[in-house]
Amino acid sequence: MIEIRKIGQDPDLDLFASPSKLDPKLRSLLDDVSSLLCEWFANAGRTSPLPDFVDCLEVAPLQKGINREHLLNDLKKIIQGSYQPSSPGALAHLDPPPLTASIVGDLVSAGLNNNLLAKELSPSLTVLERKLCKWMATSLGMPETSGGVAASGGSLSNLMALVLARHKANLSFDTKLAIISNSDAHISIARALLIMGLPEAALYEINPNQSGELLVNEIKESLNQIESDGRKCLAIVATAGTTFSGAIDPIEEIAKICSFKGIWLHVDASIGGVFALSTSTMNLLKGISLASSITINPQKILGITKTSSLLLVSDINDLYNCFSTGFPYIEPSNDIEFQGGELGIQGSRSPEILKLWLGLRQLGIEGINSILMNSINRKKYFLERLSSDKFIIKSGPLHIAALTPKKLTVSQALDWTKKTKDLLLKQNFMLSRPIYQNRYYLKVVFGNPHTQVSDLDSLANLLNNSL
Ligand SMILES: Cc1ncc(COP(=O)(O)O)c(C=O)c1O
Repeated sequence: MIEIRKIGQDPDLDLFASPSKLDPKLRSLLDDVSSLLCEWFANAGRTSPLPDFVDCLEVAPLQKGINREHLLNDLKKIIQGSYQPSSPGALAHLDPPPLTASIVGDLVSAGLNNNLLAKELSPSLTVLERKLCKWMATSLGMPETSGGVAASGGSLSNLMALVLARHKANLSFDTKLAIISNSDAHISIARALLIMGLPEAALYEINPNQSGELLVNEIKESLNQIESDGRKCLAIVATAGTTFSGAIDPIEEIAKICSFKGIWLHVDASIGGVFALSTSTMNLLKGISLASSITINPQKILGITKTSSLLLVSDINDLYNCFSTGFPYIEPSNDIEFQGGELGIQGSRSPEILKLWLGLRQLGIEGINSILMNSINRKKYFLERLSSDKFIIKSGPLHIAALTPKKLTVSQALDWTKKTKDLLLKQNFMLSRPIYQNRYYLKVVFGNPHTQVSDLDSLANLLNNSL
């Protein structure tokens, strides 16, 4: 006789929540785990963004599954060894503290375990994704035909955008292609070409001006070069917020060239896109509404938990026409035009949209506005206190600034950035150390809502006194 055995042996923890009664064991586990997490947040103000040590963890499952106590102890080790984005000195990257509503969204997503592949696997969430993408696209000024899809990160959104541009141009089997971008564009653009099977020579990178922005005349020259090289220009990528300095390319002027030449305009607005949602900053992204596609990555500043990225397109049908290959194991849905798994590269997808939706709703337009303006104002305050005679400062209009000592040689700057990064870490300030045009810089990202004016004073003093 075939036997179906009951599994799990911990009397304090079932493997799956009971489907027939409120499960007190799961409730109590969630209570304990949320206490652990809340305690971790509560200590963030006094701790370094980086842990003192990372505990050695046993990774393989044991013969018998671990019990509740063991599970909590293992979790404690992971938490203790984690990067702490809520530390006021966590200023290195585009990884801000998580919004509380977004944490809840992630937790509920895990509990629901719905799948954005198909509507029957995520009835309310599929509708939510379609509607929120449309809202975001139209809020950025895209037309009524617009829409989008969530993807795990900005890199994937950028890849999908370029695959779509190639499909739209009917050039999927042509290798003599070209893409133009700012040489400060994110590395995911070059990586997208690699994945698309295009040679390095297909990427026409243009060095930006002193402010980090693409020059329109150089784009025109690049287009001529592409033609004389016997290639076809597939897309121009404008960056709205470069990773290094937060510079924004002149999107409106680039859009005019694209429209005149019939070229796809992709705007990588991973960092800057959300600034178009605020009336105080939307002017910075003038022309974004004219893009054929936009990557927007609210995880980078608004505190939406990772990953949260959207690819927005001016015509949602284009996404379907490019990525739909049919699903022999999924029935078409009568009440939704496209299944979620037919709008991009991913099949099964977690409902990332939930934490974005909840996060935006918790913030409201006023909250979004405050986060963005406070970030820019923190940068301005800090730069006013940094000795401008001591540092070369690279900073676009957003909340990012990179600095390197004026009077040091390239190799001295290498040593200084290394030494100063370590020294700052001892004071609980974490900056990053990018290399830009062969010179090392220290980069500060001002998107952390816990960073106080007194922290900015201390950071500026430490830097000024380090030379
Ligand atoms: C401008 C820009 N685009 C794309 C990306 C890639 O985003 P992700 O790390 O989510 O893949 C980044 C990452 O920092 C970025 O700065």
